Amino acid sequence: MTSEDLLVTFQPPLRILHLEDCALDHALVRRELLASGVSFDIERVETLEEFERAIQNSHIDVILADYRLPGFTALDAWNVLQVNKSKMPFILLSGAIGESAAVAAIKVGISDYLPKDDLGKLHHVILRAIELHDVREAKELADIELALSEQRLASFTDHLQKTIEQERAAIAREIHDDIGGALAAIRFDLSWIGRHTEDPMTLTHVNAATDMLQHAIGASQRIMMNLRPAILDQGLADAIHWLADSFSKRSGIETHVRSGLHGQPLSKSLQLVAYRTAQEALTNIGKYAGCTKVTIELSDAENVLTLEVSDNGRGISAQDLTKPTSFGIRGMKERARTVDGWLDISAQPGTGTAIILSVPLTAQNTHQETSE
Ligand SMILES: Nc1ncnc2c1ncn2[C@@H]1O[C@H](COP(=O)(O)OP(=O)(O)OP(=O)(O)O)[C@@H](O)[C@H]1O
Ligand SMILES: [Mg+2]
Repeated sequence: MTSEDLLVTFQPPLRILHLEDCALDHALVRRELLASGVSFDIERVETLEEFERAIQNSHIDVILADYRLPGFTALDAWNVLQVNKSKMPFILLSGAIGESAAVAAIKVGISDYLPKDDLGKLHHVILRAIELHDVREAKELADIELALSEQRLASFTDHLQKTIEQERAAIAREIHDDIGGALAAIRFDLSWIGRHTEDPMTLTHVNAATDMLQHAIGASQRIMMNLRPAILDQGLADAIHWLADSFSKRSGIETHVRSGLHGQPLSKSLQLVAYRTAQEALTNIGKYAGCTKVTIELSDAENVLTLEVSDNGRGISAQDLTKPTSFGIRGMKERARTVDGWLDISAQPGTGTAIILSVPLTAQNTHQETSE
C-alpha cells in the first residue's frame, strides 16, 4: 500500500483543524483535499480562544495554521498547544512568511511549512507530518520505557546487592555460632586430653589434631571475614590493609596500601562498597593481571572518597570489559551507583590497570548508621 493509499483509506476521517481568517483560503484548502480523495473533517477557527477550545475539546489529527492572523501569529497558537501539552502535528500553511518568521518557527520546533500557492502538495505534507509525528511519539514512548526499565534494573540490582549482603551476614553468623562454637569445644577437649595423658602416641595425635583444628579455625575465620567483613568495624583503612595483607600472602604479589583518610566518618554502606570494590579488584588482579606489584590508595581529599587499586600487569582491553559473562566490573559500577559514586577504569595494554572508585562524601555517605 502506497502512502497515498494510506491517506485515502485513513479511517475514520482525518480530523483537521484549520486556523485561518480568510474564508476563501479555507475554501481552497477544502477543495484541494476533496480533489485528493482524502476522507476528512475540517473545522475552521479564527481566534486563539476558538483554537484553544478546539484542541481541548476534540480529537485532532493535524493542524493547518496560517502564519499571520488578526492580532496574533501561528507562533502564539503553537505556544497554546505547548501550554496545553497537546502534541498534534502542526503545519504552517501560509503566504510568504519572511526569513525571520521562518527562523522563529523552526526554533520553536515547527518544521512543516507549505506555501499557500503550492496547495497541490497539501495531502503529501499532511501525510508526512502525521507519519513523522507518529514516529516521534513512538520514540518518546520508547525513551520513557527505556528510562523506566533502567530505573527498575538499578533498583533491582540495589535490592539484589542488599539481599546478597544480608544472606552473607546470615551465613557468617551461622558459621560463627555453629561451626565456631563446635571448634572451640573441640579445642577445649583436646587441650584437656593433652593435659591428662602422658602417653607419647596419644600426645602426638593430640598435637596433630590441634594443628588441624587451628587450620580449621583459621579457615572458618577467613570464610567469615569474606562473607561479612567484621574487620570493617575497625574502619575502612584497617579493613583494606587486612585485605591487602591476605591477598599478598596468598598470591605472593607485593601489595602496598597508602591511606590518606583523615578520619571523616564514613557510612557502613559506603565502607562496604569500597571494601567489596577492593576485594573484586584484587580477585581480578590475582586471576588476570600477571603483575608483580599492586598499590591501593585511599583518600578523602576534597570531600570525595577515592579508592584506587592499580597493578603493573597486562592491562584490560576494551573487549575484556564487554565480556557477556563477566559481572565483576559491572557489579562494581552498580555498587558505586548505590552510594551516588562512580567507577573509572584506566587501562593501557601492557602498562597495567587502575580501578578507581570515587564517591562524594554527602551527608548520606557520612551518616553513621546503627549497626545491624
Ligand atoms: N587487573 C586486571 N588486569 C587484566 N585484566 C583484567 C583485570 N581485571 C579484569 N580484567 C579483565 O576484565 C574482564 C572482566 O572482569 P570482571 O571482573 O568484570 O569479570 P570476570 O572476572 O571475568 O568474571 P566475574 O568477576 O563475573 O567472576 C576479565 O575477564 C579480565 O579479562
Ligand atoms: Mg571478576
